This record gives sequence, C-alpha cells and structure tokens, in this order.
Amino acid sequence: MKTNDRLEPTVFVIFGGAGDLTWRKLVPALFDLSQDRSMPADFSVIVVDRVDLSDEMLRRRLHNGVNQFSRFGKGKVAAWNQFARHIHYQRGDFKKLQTYAALGEQCAKLEKEWGAKVHRIFYMATPPSLFGEIPQYLGRAGLARDRDWARIVVEKPIGYDLESARALNAALAANFDESQIFRIDHYLGKETVQNILAFRFANPLFEPIWNRRYVECVTITALEAVGVEHRGGYYDHAGALRDMVQNHLMQLLCLVAMEPMVSFEADEIRNKKADVLHAVRPIHRDSVHQCVVRGQYGPGWIDGKKVPGYREEDRVSPDSQTETFVALRLFLDNWRWQGVPFYLRTGKRLTRQASEIAIQFRAVPHQSFPAEATLDWQSSRLVMAIQPDEGIVLHFQAKHPGPKMHLRSVEMQFNYQDAFAAPSPDAYETLLWDVMKNDATLFMRADQVEAAWRLLMPVLDVWAAAPPSDFPNYAAGSWGPEEAQGLLAQGHSWPVPSELAGLCQKKAKNE
Ligand code: BG6
Repeated sequence: MKTNDRLEPTVFVIFGGAGDLTWRKLVPALFDLSQDRSMPADFSVIVVDRVDLSDEMLRRRLHNGVNQFSRFGKGKVAAWNQFARHIHYQRGDFKKLQTYAALGEQCAKLEKEWGAKVHRIFYMATPPSLFGEIPQYLGRAGLARDRDWARIVVEKPIGYDLESARALNAALAANFDESQIFRIDHYLGKETVQNILAFRFANPLFEPIWNRRYVECVTITALEAVGVEHRGGYYDHAGALRDMVQNHLMQLLCLVAMEPMVSFEADEIRNKKADVLHAVRPIHRDSVHQCVVRGQYGPGWIDGKKVPGYREEDRVSPDSQTETFVALRLFLDNWRWQGVPFYLRTGKRLTRQASEIAIQFRAVPHQSFPAEATLDWQSSRLVMAIQPDEGIVLHFQAKHPGPKMHLRSVEMQFNYQDAFAAPSPDAYETLLWDVMKNDATLFMRADQVEAAWRLLMPVLDVWAAAPPSDFPNYAAGSWGPEEAQGLLAQGHSWPVPSELAGLCQKKAKNE
C-alpha cells in the first residue's frame, strides 16, 4: 500500500454532502486540518448531492457548521474564506453514471491544473441504502481502478445483520481492493481510544499483569445522557446492539484484550484485533437471556429537566420494542483471558455521559492486615476514561494517616487536560487525515465487521423471536435496568457514578 506521507494533491468527494454528517463533522474536521497545516497544498472538496444548491449557498451552510463544531472555526472569517475556495458543489443523481463521469472529468481537470496525479477519496455520507450502489457506479466509471490513488470511505452502519454486512462487503470488494476500503468507526479516532495501545504496549508496567492471573474482570462502558435526538427514524430500526455494540464496544474490547502487535502496520494490528473477536465464546441461543440484558427508557429527569420516554420521541413507534440499553457478559476462550468476564454496557438517557474501560484486579492472595484495617478495602482498579473525562485513574489501597493501620482506596490520575496543553483533535480529524495518508490502521476490515456480526446474530435472532414484555424498563436519568446487575458474578460491580466521576470532580475543584 502506498502511504501518502507528503500529502500529495487530493480530491475529496463527499456523496450526500448536503447532509448532517458533512456539516457537523466532515467539513469542520477538514477545516481544522487545514488550520493545523495538515491538508495538502493542492486539494479540492467536491460535495455531491441531489438538491439544488450553488457553491455559495453550500459554503454558507458549511461555514455555519464550522462556526459551531470546529476547534478553530469561530470568527475565523479570513481563514474560512481561504478554505472555502476549495469547496465545490456538484448536483447529481447517485444512480446515474453521468454523475460519476462528471466527477472523473473534474479530477482529470484538476490533475492538469496541478500538474500532478491526484488521490481520489470517495466518502459515502449518504443513507446506508446507497452504500452498495455507489461503489458499483464508481467501478463502472473507472474511478476505482487505481489501487494506490483511489479510496472509498464507508460510514457505519456496515450492514444490518451478518447477511447484509456480507453483501455490502461483497459489493465493495467487487469494485475496490480491501486496501482501498476505509470503514469508519469514529471511536477508533478518539485520542483516548488510541491511547489504549500506547498505554499497554509502550510501557512495560502493566502488560505483565494484563491477564487472567491478575485481572478479575473487565468492564467496558459507553453511557449517554442524550436520547435519540433527531435520529428516531434510523434508531428505531437499529437499537443499541446494532448502533453501539457491534462496532464501538467490540472495537474497544479488541483493543483492551488483543495480544501485543509485532509492528505498527495496519494489517498486523487488525489481525491481532480480529483474533480477539475469534476468541469470544459464542453466545448460544438458549443462553441469550442469561448473558444479555436489554432495556428501553421511559420518561424521567435529567439535569433537573423532565425528558420524554423513548416511545414518545419523534419518529419512534409508540409501541416500539427497540432497545436503547444493552448489557452483555462475554468470555474470551484463549490463554490470556480464560475465565475472565468482560462486561459491556451502553445506553441512552442514562444519568450522565461516561465512556470508560475498567480493569478490576484480583484480590491479594493472602490478606495479612488485621481485619479492622481492611474494613474499607477494595481491589485495585485501573480505569481508562474515554469521554467526557479523558485520562487514566489507578485506584489502589493506601494507609489512612493516623496511629492505626487502616487501609482505604486512593487514586492516581493522569488527565489529558493537565498533561497536554493542546485540546485533543476530533476523531474525524484523525480519521480523515489517515485516509489521506492511506493508513488503514484505525479502520475496520471486512473480516472484523463480519466476525462482530456473527457473534451478535444469536442475540438479534432470539430478541426478534421473543419481543420484550417489560419495556420501558428503566427511567430516563437512571443507570439502566436493574436486570443488568444480574449479569455480574458475585463480588463484581458496574462502576458506580462516583467512580466514573473521579476526573470530573477534580476538574470542578480546580475551577
Ligand atoms: C454513534 C451512534 O455511532 O455514536 C450514536 O450512532 C451515538 O447513537 C454515538 O450517540 C456516540 O458517539 P460519541 O462520540 O458521542 O460517544
């Protein structure tokens, strides 16, 4: 694979460019890259959509997005004007070959103008129903052919189930080589997620105890306080398992459980991650109810405000059976992790937003302190906070000051805000830059996507056959359904709010 370290001339084509993703994420990220001097000197952003727009109208709309969502955007009119000159609108039907022929001509024109061959990046920011078709048109128009110069970016959802994911992967593979396909999982672009590998494999400290001998259990959490917002139409057909677990949570599981990579090559890392998915013990249909809990929020209170239940949300069916919460207990059948439970949970409209991975270490093999010293004793725990707090917290036992031997839990913290002066880039900045560099390390490969679907299919099948009778089963603003406790082995717990809030409390104190 040719990597583009010098950032050669690039044409960025965004299909569905008049939509929310382009406005909210893609163009703010490209603008921020330009402010960071991380865009090629010669680049063009061609936005393709069906609606009637002029270059000027599109630029005004995108400027508004940059003002709201970019790190550098607000008030930078001159910088925006300079950047906006690179943005062009092309009206076109995604299902007509002439749209693609026009793109080909435009690329050829730019090549002539810049006097150099251009990298062509095709970003599908369209509804998923077009994901299978656009690659075919690109193929027919001859725009996919050049392996080192043409790339396609696919947003999630990559399929609705195993079968449709396979069909989509096949449609992509019929026109592009796997090395040209960039499947986005924006979690992988988050600094704190990338730091999992740095923390594990750039330090000799924890890796020797990162296994079944020392780890009691692992909890992977991605909780949201927001509801489905304006995405009820999509979400009601997806649900939390498809929306968050199949992709983001499975990717976190891979990063936390994988074996050390031999090199930082994209495929080496992706092979190690795929090994984790292959090691997950399959969930049999008859054990789905013991290993997985689903939930849906009813009305409740968040931050002192009354919020509606899921069934009252816009474009959600009033008797919807879609889950907005899911918790799972998984095991990995390999040498490193045999017998260690991995608890995963995610949901919407919970008490507060908090994504983190907690490694709970085993108890000491022999408790030599007197019983009265250990009344508040807790196992050591390492928490990798992903968002909104960004950092790492190590909880361990220390002697409480005083004449008596009394142990209590204390924390050591690494906080991004304190350690690094600059704010972290948005995940899309990192990912778009990697696409331009032709570096697929942070992108999902076809086999990973299919392996994740394969694992979850029994759950989806059993749920479809036995709709829930107790929805809504948690109130908005709570920590999810009570049943999620039932997944935990004795002595294990989901991290409680005060533990998750460690970094927040510190920030609040400092302010
Ligand atoms: C998206 C899901 O992939 O991730 C959304 O479709 C979810 O439902 C979002 O809200 C969460 O991402 P983040 O970066 O806000 O945690």
